[in-house]
Amino acid sequence: MFAQRLNGLRESFIREMTRLALTHQAINLSQGFPDFDPPREVIDAAHRALDSGGNQYTITWGAPPLRQAIAAKMKRWYGLDFDPDQHITVTCGVTEALSATLMGLLNTGDEVIIIEPYHEGYAPAIIFAGGVPRFVPLDAPDYALNLDKLRAAFNSRTRAIIVNTPHNPTGHVFTRAELEGLAALCQQFNAVAITDEIYEHIIYDDRPHIPLASLPGMAERTVTISGFGKTFAATGWRLGYACAPNNLSNALRTVHDFTTICAPAPLQAACVAALNLPDEYYRQLNCDYSARRDKIMSILGEAGFIARPPEGAYYVMADFSAWKFDGDDYAFARWLPANLGVAVVPGSCFYGTPGMGANAVRFAFAKKLETLNAAGERLSKRTAA
Ligand SMILES: Cc1ncc(COP(=O)(O)O)c(C=O)c1O
Repeated sequence: MFAQRLNGLRESFIREMTRLALTHQAINLSQGFPDFDPPREVIDAAHRALDSGGNQYTITWGAPPLRQAIAAKMKRWYGLDFDPDQHITVTCGVTEALSATLMGLLNTGDEVIIIEPYHEGYAPAIIFAGGVPRFVPLDAPDYALNLDKLRAAFNSRTRAIIVNTPHNPTGHVFTRAELEGLAALCQQFNAVAITDEIYEHIIYDDRPHIPLASLPGMAERTVTISGFGKTFAATGWRLGYACAPNNLSNALRTVHDFTTICAPAPLQAACVAALNLPDEYYRQLNCDYSARRDKIMSILGEAGFIARPPEGAYYVMADFSAWKFDGDDYAFARWLPANLGVAVVPGSCFYGTPGMGANAVRFAFAKKLETLNAAGERLSKRTAA
């Protein structure tokens, strides 16, 4: 006995792949979490908060020092003005920020555009909120946004669009031209833009990250969402935030208030320390991730995968056609950990349109170089397998 809204949903493939990795003692390049710790200063700040009474609920919207630090960050990095008292809400990860926004916004039957491939949490979040996902594919091989296809998906039922840049799983970083085209459609159809900018600081080759809210006419119709999990290697802390103008902020705050009350208090204190890290932290982050990206690209090339280097985020979609594997991406993703000891995610679980992504698997490379090297050694044994 379960609710009809669960029809067609199943457990997350990504988390299933993590369990499969544990079963086979495989190197886990499936789920997107680092195998290294947050910066020492940030961990120390969490300890201090635990030891000094920071253990009770914070204000529902988030501890004031954290909301102030987020407002200062948005101003400093992107020139965006958000009032910490009205516009910023600290949530339990980006996942909760997205869900609260969708629940606060959608009426039954409202359509929400998802650009596919997409992070697998989006469609369930829309369905839980009573909405209907509508998929628009990025065009392979460079995963550019096709504005004609996007235009065709907008209609009078379109309430919102979710925009994830830098993009998981393709690594695409949306260009200003793509974002301008998308912004024009949101304005034409009076749709809300919900952004997922969780990889805003993991971006390569000096590409700029452009928040959609910074484009003309978009601040008043955009919910800008980001989080601490990826930038500070703390995915298990479950800390994220949403920045939005009054009407949208009030809607998502009402849902947040009654679903989670507040995000974990001592970790909110630690995230203030994270936002106070010097610019050098971000330079080093880029340098470290660039080295990891180069490493995974060379490993995948040598192992016979075809893949494009990501422009941002920490994933590679890799075509395994050259392996001449007898089976689809799900079969390949189950075979790989069992036979070569490396766990990945089947490409098609990032698509809502059947048949897409079936010749690819996703590698997550937020790992120490020695972990990636070990995975490379295992993949190089493919002819023996
Ligand atoms: C694009 C994207 N959005 C959201 C999430 C989840 O974010 P959080 O852990 O902050 O809920 C992930 C995690 O991998 C992601 O890749």
